[in-house]
Amino acid sequence: MRLLLIGFGNLGRGLARSILEGGKFKDLKVVGIVDERGGVLNDEGIELRQALEVAESEGSVAKMGIEGLSAVEAIRESDADLVVELTPTNIKTGEPGLTHIRTALETGKHVVTSNKGPLVIAFRELQKLASSKGVQFKYSATVGGAIPVISLARRLASGDEILGVRGVLNGTTNYILTRMEREGLSQDVVIREAQELGIAEKDPTLDIEGIDTACKLVILANSILDMDVKLSDVKITGISRISPEALKLAREAGYTIKLIGNADKKGLDVRPRLVPLDHPLNIGGTLNAVSFRLRYAREITISGFGAGPAETSSALLADIMEVLASSPAS
Ligand SMILES: NC(=O)c1ccc[n+]([C@@H]2O[C@H](COP(=O)([O-])OP(=O)(O)OC[C@H]3O[C@@H](n4cnc5c(N)ncnc54)[C@H](OP(=O)(O)O)[C@@H]3O)[C@@H](O)[C@H]2O)c1
Repeated sequence: MRLLLIGFGNLGRGLARSILEGGKFKDLKVVGIVDERGGVLNDEGIELRQALEVAESEGSVAKMGIEGLSAVEAIRESDADLVVELTPTNIKTGEPGLTHIRTALETGKHVVTSNKGPLVIAFRELQKLASSKGVQFKYSATVGGAIPVISLARRLASGDEILGVRGVLNGTTNYILTRMEREGLSQDVVIREAQELGIAEKDPTLDIEGIDTACKLVILANSILDMDVKLSDVKITGISRISPEALKLAREAGYTIKLIGNADKKGLDVRPRLVPLDHPLNIGGTLNAVSFRLRYAREITISGFGAGPAETSSALLADIMEVLASSPAS
């Protein structure tokens, strides 16, 4: 299967390294790579080792191809079967990823992405477009990193009814709350340390204020609860007012406090909630956990590493391999 990579940063390069290893990925051929400065197209397959070296040394793959080549031009010109969209997330406009995904689907190409922006802005539209063109649109990597939340939900929904979904969907805030609870540290101190360790962004507002969790909740609600909701439909309260004292009091009463995203037919909210200490959503550090409420099976919870390039790559590759498995040989 012929792949066109749009975005060649952490994840794009990680993907290229995995494909280079061959093995079970031997049927994946990269026929194009584009970053912000330009790109390279070759129907015979790109020399990935060289692309990685050029990207590392020159800061862009454009140096081995066409400076100024835009992703939209590349998507239109390329004969790729599948576009992997890996540009930065923008939750206000969805761009540039939204236009890239639209163009790919319109030109009959499957799409795999880890970019939340386009899904938060235009989930229903993109899903309809994919189905009208008879191509696949996969986005497992946008929620829960390596945890197969969306594929598990599909399986559960086939024999049961998912009544609701809730979870710890942001590793950064979970790390902060865990350390505040275990070490009695103030939020400011833990955030500074998390930034030094690369766990929190320079500007952690989207995490702390619960917006990242809300974006993931919107994707889950639209994809597995068959809702049609936007970010503005989520009532959001972040963790900024949670103190070490509150965590201590909660613990004395048999609870911890987690930033929980919750979605069911009644609505969507993100807020700090009390979680019993023995509940499977009580996970520590940067872990994520998602709990499905089901008509027959009652409750199923899964947890794992929700972010990070390696974990996210595993979800991207799983999506790509699923498209490959369901496509005629190409
Ligand atoms: N890294 C993770 O662990 C992780 C986890 C989950 C989800 N995600 C999401 O996955 C996506 C990719 O993440 P990443 O860590 O790989 O990001 P990254 O390292 O910042 O790389 C982004 C890439 O997109 C390119 N780009 C920006 N604008 C473009 C445009 N208009 N046309 C073509 N290429 C463009 C950049 O080009 P230049 O190199 O020229 O700037 C860069 O190569 C993001 O949406 C991120 O939120 C990441």
